[in-house]
Amino acid sequence: MESFKLDRNLSHLALLQRIELATTIQKKLRKLFGRYLFSKIFSRYILNIDKISSDYYKIMYSEYLTIKKFLNSNQKILSIGAGIGGLEIIINNSYRDINFTFIERDYISNKIKYGWDNKNDEAYNKLDLLENFLISNNLKKNNFNIVNFDKSTLPNEKFNVVTSFYSLDFHYDFEIYRSYLSKVSNDNTVIIFDTIRADFFLDIFEDVSVIKVDSNTLHKSKRIACRKFKN
Ligand SMILES: C[S@@+](CC[C@H](N)C(=O)[O-])C[C@H]1O[C@@H](n2cnc3c(N)ncnc32)[C@H](O)[C@@H]1O
Repeated sequence: MESFKLDRNLSHLALLQRIELATTIQKKLRKLFGRYLFSKIFSRYILNIDKISSDYYKIMYSEYLTIKKFLNSNQKILSIGAGIGGLEIIINNSYRDINFTFIERDYISNKIKYGWDNKNDEAYNKLDLLENFLISNNLKKNNFNIVNFDKSTLPNEKFNVVTSFYSLDFHYDFEIYRSYLSKVSNDNTVIIFDTIRADFFLDIFEDVSVIKVDSNTLHKSKRIACRKFKN
């Protein structure tokens, strides 16, 4: 069975980024002892690394299938809030010479709430671990670039595809990236993200199509693929 290579630190991050990886016991512990202890202790020390490695792979593979039709060899992909990058590893295994730019954050919030975050304070990633994960899962160093959202100037180049799963406009406002994304896209760039207000984007883009509907989750979000900013 296919699986990623994860150690405890990476499994901890994967679990924070994809709470569906939590076991029933972990969810009960979170209810009983609160989010602080869950984020710091239970999500780190009470976990089955092999199971997280293969379950995280399964989740990311099914996410990959939702966007496969937009992918080709030689593309430049911008990933906003990719987490540890499982999706990008699967894309890298499937196409030649894709170049990835990751914009992410370098801290783990003390009490992760997983809700809408007006101030966009919440984060759960570590950039050195993201780099370790990418390299140990066979993404070549020349083929990616990691940018710290809080410290670096965002790269000014055109991308073919932008992905942001359960991050942009799911946890924080699209407005934060709106002018940046219009600068780094052209008429063919496809921008894919999850939102609970898909119709709102009909006023922003010429072309919006729904490619996935998450009706079972609390947030009932849609994954949309958008092209061409309206002037
Ligand atoms: C729910 S996780 C989703 C991770 C991954 N996309 C996935 O589908 O598994 C949200 C991610 O967004 C990141 N994040 C939060 N604010 C961000 C920002 N302004 N720019 C880029 N990433 C951000 C967090 O650190 C976290 O890794």
